[in-house]
Amino acid sequence: MSTGTNDLRVPIAIIGGSGLYELDGLKVIEERTIETPFGMPSAPILIGELDGRRVAFLPRHGKNHEYNPSTVPYRANIWALKSLGVFWVVTVSAVGSLKEAIVPGHVVIPDNIIDKTYRRANTLFDELAVHVNLTYPFDPMLREVLIECVKAEGVPCHTEGTYVCMEGPAFSTRAESELHRSWGASLIGMTAMPEARLAREAELCYATIALSTDYDCWKDDDEVDVTNVMAIIKQNVANVRRILQRVIPAIPLEREEECEAGRALQFGIMTPAE
Ligand code: ADE
Repeated sequence: MSTGTNDLRVPIAIIGGSGLYELDGLKVIEERTIETPFGMPSAPILIGELDGRRVAFLPRHGKNHEYNPSTVPYRANIWALKSLGVFWVVTVSAVGSLKEAIVPGHVVIPDNIIDKTYRRANTLFDELAVHVNLTYPFDPMLREVLIECVKAEGVPCHTEGTYVCMEGPAFSTRAESELHRSWGASLIGMTAMPEARLAREAELCYATIALSTDYDCWKDDDEVDVTNVMAIIKQNVANVRRILQRVIPAIPLEREEECEAGRALQFGIMTPAE
């Protein structure tokens, strides 16, 4: 994928979810507006320095939360980050809990995804047959870093879990929620896909900090609505910010070669080269 990569490489990106529209401690160098073959990203990308490392920050839903999960320009976002030379992508997402033990306010570092989305452009390669391996959409090495940092911050951390990505924008029905639980999934959210798949196609190393905000609608005494979700995000956003401040210096930049996602296209292109 040729993106005209910039000379001043930015190796790390944070994609912020609901309630996270900026990054604490980032010494901003510039705000870059990047036009991509897929249109404009959700917002201009903040490029700055944290702990001596260059970091890009992009609020997934836009600066003023103008994009819903179906309209987020996922392809432009991933393309724009790649064009900056990003390799390590850490995302933050609010999710509903499908398990009693995952209490609102807890963090989960998911290890897999079930994709139920159906109206989002989901490949960077409309004109080629590209089939990347997506067995494990979240990078295991980056997940370990996230787990260590969440634990070090003293925030309750679930070290695995399957994330069901629904289309939304309405929350699930009770029957859907029970179905998702019967699959053994841990989390329900609306943004991991196609983001994780596109990140793999762009050969980026990708992992997510999922903040549980509610028990979806499977539990009798709990109701999911935006007010409740935002209240939990507000109560926990300081934890997430502190976790991110630990994560950035902890990313093993020197181990980039070990990450298999960096070779995803080597084994994924079906269309013969001309
Ligand atoms: N994001 C936060 N809570 C959610 C839920 N219950 N379902 C889908 N997305 C969510």
